[in-house]
Amino acid sequence: MTATQDRWSALLEAARQAREKAYAPYSRYLVGAALLDDQGRIHAGCNVENAAYPEGVCAEAGAISHMVLNGGRRIVAAVVVGEGAEAITPCGGCRQKLREFGADSLVVRSADAQGQWRGEHTLGQLLPSSFGPAHLAGKKEDEDDEA
Ligand code: THU
Repeated sequence: MTATQDRWSALLEAARQAREKAYAPYSRYLVGAALLDDQGRIHAGCNVENAAYPEGVCAEAGAISHMVLNGGRRIVAAVVVGEGAEAITPCGGCRQKLREFGADSLVVRSADAQGQWRGEHTLGQLLPSSFGPAHLAGKKEDEDDEA
């Protein structure tokens, strides 16, 4: 399952608005993320940096926290917004965090701050042969969304 055109537009807008709220005084690289859950709800997040640099939190992590807080457990589409010559893609750690709640077929789109689509990957492309909840539970992938 992936998102309709309407939902992609709503995700893009939510991610752009979240990016506007980013706290990134050190890198000055503002990021917004928005996730669509399997109940059709959108959860957004922005990066929040810290003077102790490694303590900064990525936009995707914030969006995942919002989703879990609101009872979401399954991501069916994701958008990440950032600027720069190179289209943004989720960092390695965020790929694994998305993996917890998303299938290999999860579509992750990138866009710039002007709302221009810049890239599209599946989570399986971003994080091939990944380790996920099913490895611990000893059950098949499509049974692992109850945790
Ligand atoms: N960042 C994200 O929020 N998400 C990503 O997927 C890539 C990087 C943030 C972390 C840091 O605050 C800034 O971008 C520069 O790395």
